[in-house]
Amino acid sequence: MCGIVAYIGKKPAATLLLEGLKRLEYRGYDSAGVAVANADGKVQVAKSVGRVRVLEELIETRRGFDGSTGIAHTRWATHGGVTEVNAHPHCDDPVKGHGIALVHNGIIENYASIKTYLLEKGHVFKGETDTEVLVHLIGELYQGDLERAVQAALREVTGAYAICCICEKEPGVLVVARKGSPLMVGVGNGEYVVASDQSAIVAHTNQAFTLEDYTVAKLTRDSLRTSTVDDVEIDAKILALEVDLSEIELGDFEHFMLKEIFEQPAALTRTLQGRVDHRAGQIVLGGIGDHARALASSRRITLIGQGTALHAGMIGSYLMEEWAKIPADWDFASEFRYRNPIVSEGSVVVAVSQSGETADTLAALQEAKARGAMALGVINVVGSSIARETDAGIYLRVGPEIGVASTKAFVGQVMVSAMLALYIGRRRFLSQDFVSSTLRELEAIPAHIERILKQSESIRRSTEKYIERENWLFLGRGVNYPVALEGALKLKEISYIHAEGMPSAEMKHGPIALIDKGMPCVFVATRNSQYEKVLSNIQEVRSRGGHVIAVATEGDEHIKSMAEDVFYVPDVTEMLQPLVTVVPLQLLAYHAAVLRGKDVDKPRNLAKSVTVE
Ligand code: AGP
Ligand code: GLU
Repeated sequence: MCGIVAYIGKKPAATLLLEGLKRLEYRGYDSAGVAVANADGKVQVAKSVGRVRVLEELIETRRGFDGSTGIAHTRWATHGGVTEVNAHPHCDDPVKGHGIALVHNGIIENYASIKTYLLEKGHVFKGETDTEVLVHLIGELYQGDLERAVQAALREVTGAYAICCICEKEPGVLVVARKGSPLMVGVGNGEYVVASDQSAIVAHTNQAFTLEDYTVAKLTRDSLRTSTVDDVEIDAKILALEVDLSEIELGDFEHFMLKEIFEQPAALTRTLQGRVDHRAGQIVLGGIGDHARALASSRRITLIGQGTALHAGMIGSYLMEEWAKIPADWDFASEFRYRNPIVSEGSVVVAVSQSGETADTLAALQEAKARGAMALGVINVVGSSIARETDAGIYLRVGPEIGVASTKAFVGQVMVSAMLALYIGRRRFLSQDFVSSTLRELEAIPAHIERILKQSESIRRSTEKYIERENWLFLGRGVNYPVALEGALKLKEISYIHAEGMPSAEMKHGPIALIDKGMPCVFVATRNSQYEKVLSNIQEVRSRGGHVIAVATEGDEHIKSMAEDVFYVPDVTEMLQPLVTVVPLQLLAYHAAVLRGKDVDKPRNLAKSVTVE
């Protein structure tokens, strides 16, 4: 589920593979490994627990990593502990085998029964992973042709995989395949770079194709053959990658998360670009044009996602009801899928996802489609698995997001949800004037965020005052309730401080018992229809000795008498407030993590994209 890089060409593979793994480090992992097929035909393997840096040092001390074909992996353990033995690459049976090495992202669900079968055949396993079982199966089925053996093995397995493998008996061959876990093949001049993420490819070539599910590619330096697992030959659609190298490099920033927080104004400008028609008072959304009528007459809209993407989806459901006037709700994709959801024709299910690879979200969307719902996507990564599963969709266009803590994708998802609500609403009840003026508000958001970013240093100073506190509350009402959830999630995922987000009125129904002297309570208290109510909730915290930190509307002097710290945001219409109120909370979480000395871009236990259910 984490990172794969593979190479076949003329360059020394090991250097290129390690550089590729470093570009994938942001995705989160626990161990790493490389296998290189050398000129003498031998496959050399090196693995280590921990950072790619450790693996690099290990390879420097070893001889024989000089070939120009190889595979590499960063593992996020699913089956078997985080040990060197369980790290990939895995090899087939040392006695019965053929010198096959394999890296794998995903889960082989039926590995246990295959393992029983192989044990009966005398195979000996070194570790506990499902991956080792797969490579032994490939070895068992090998009859002199790696591509055939891979196809045959994949016909036997269930689950999700992206795999790359090499074989001592076929030194100039790299075989790769995928089902349900991303894998892309970069096509260079006399070389191929394969990776689970385009960021490991763009430094080498911008020509690439994404493997479809159940397909296998056999690569040599100068040939490419793609086929299904049943060996039906298919064409690879090679396309130009649109990512610029600077978008995946740190530049002058210390962390990707900070870079991406500061990129938000430019990112949102791109989200809106070419999609606003002031004269008609309308949004232009090419991706859903064919479905405009069906959308306008839909009976219910459900937004699904996980984590930050779900928080954006929650805000989207408020926007759909307010502007499109269609009953709207939201759910965790993982819950939606298994609760026998009532969706049918006339229902629209919107999958919200940055990566477009989240397994829970993908499975839930497939379930909704099977029940007759229209499947829409609000997604960042073009051509990702979820994007390809949807009937139609709107891309965020915020650029690659490297920081594990999602920031610019969140504001992109909220903005796209707002655009979708306006688009549908305009076809129902919204006037041209209303849409026009709301569009002008949307266009002003990037400049508003620029103003908030200037407070980064004062937000850092405020955060420092509470940095020893282990428990925080985040509270908000209406559209700012999901912002409170998002503020709490950001803080916990990168600084490991316990934080809870909730609707501010909910606090007095139980959580208020947590409030003791000095507990930081962050309120989104901007001027809107519920402002006075939030002020009452603030008083409830103050009476119990809690520290109040408020996100408030510029010009609100009154709030200063009620909060120890105030982060101001420009005044925007209530429904669009999350686009500004979330920004100080992102900065707060970032500074808290840095102040606590945490690895902001590589938080413990987390992976950038969760491709297992
Ligand atoms: C956010 O900071 C997290 N990394 C996480 O909650 C994330 O938003 C979630 O896993 C969904 O990912 P997606 O947007 O790629 O589907
Ligand atoms: N299931 C495999 C393992 O636990 C692969 C995990 C991954 O995707 O990194 O080793």
